[in-house]
Amino acid sequence: MNYKITLLPGDGIGVEVTASAVEVMKKVASFYDMEFEFTEKLIGGCSYDAFENPLTEDTLNTCLDSDAVFLGAVGGYKWESLPHHLKPEAALLRLRKELGLYTNIRPAKIYEPLIDSSSLKREVVNGVDFVVLRELTGGIYFGNPRGFDDAHGFNTMIYYKEEVVRIAKMAFEIARLRNGKVMSVDKANVLEVSQFWRNVVTEVHKDYSDVQLSHMYVDNAAMQIVRNPKQFDVILTSNLFGDILSDIAGMITGSLGMLPSASIGEKYSLYEPVHGSAPDIAGQSKANPLAAISSVAMMFKYTFKNNPASELIEAAITKTLDDGLRTPDIFSEGMKLVSTNEMTSALLNNIENIYKS
Ligand code: IPM
Ligand code: MG
Repeated sequence: MNYKITLLPGDGIGVEVTASAVEVMKKVASFYDMEFEFTEKLIGGCSYDAFENPLTEDTLNTCLDSDAVFLGAVGGYKWESLPHHLKPEAALLRLRKELGLYTNIRPAKIYEPLIDSSSLKREVVNGVDFVVLRELTGGIYFGNPRGFDDAHGFNTMIYYKEEVVRIAKMAFEIARLRNGKVMSVDKANVLEVSQFWRNVVTEVHKDYSDVQLSHMYVDNAAMQIVRNPKQFDVILTSNLFGDILSDIAGMITGSLGMLPSASIGEKYSLYEPVHGSAPDIAGQSKANPLAAISSVAMMFKYTFKNNPASELIEAAITKTLDDGLRTPDIFSEGMKLVSTNEMTSALLNNIENIYKS
């Protein structure tokens, strides 16, 4: 099979981790009779510098003509004072909207060799394995009216029925492939939009009675994620709540440098590590490539429907960590400090060895 992949390395360490991700894609593809055609484009700050536009039509059209998009990271101090619509983050939001990527999946899964780098106790995090399913193209991020003047600032939190229906379906479908439990998170005790969300999710659930559905208020959910994260399987929530909860969920697993994400719509999908562009360490081969590589594992699973390839990559990540290799962000006493490149080479070797064994 032949696939077109758009590469958007973006800013800062996005460039280095994308290079690592591409090596992994090529290696794994060669084992499974797949061929990738890569096209690389600018996005974010680097695109602003080149074209005074963080997301050009050329970049967007290339994404619209691909089977999957891989994005490194966008942003940096340099562009922080630009007006809203020119900021690197605006490019990401527009790309999500234009590609219709309404489902964002962020797994919170702990790699056994890294348990002790979590800020939570071993017994709390050992065995944690859930996903945050965040609605990504609606809610307060995109609602109108929005704006501010000298006297007030305002945004609109709005959900249309079809937006809630499709993400709820996705949550139940994914739960079926996991442990069959969905926790829908809202603020229905205060917000009408949340009561509406809850009603619609409950209605969609009628077609998925084999899946267990519960509801939780978002403040309580934030607490429960650090109190007893093992209770969760699929957390289904809106755009803003998901933004916040997925960062909390991410940290229980030790390092932001380890967290992958997938953003999926009817037609397109985009994979990106959750970490940012880390301009302070850019270009020094200090970045942790594992979040990007784990995002590649998600690409094989969700876009190419190739579970063995995805599991192969995940197994190689665990093996590499087991061997004691650590980039600075996950380094601890007694481990072997390595660069981005060394981590990537070790990982590629492990992929090869595991595949051949
Ligand atoms: C994320 C980020 C983005 C968001 C920013 C960079 C626009 O925080 O992907 O979680 O808020 O969605
Ligand atoms: Mg965020």
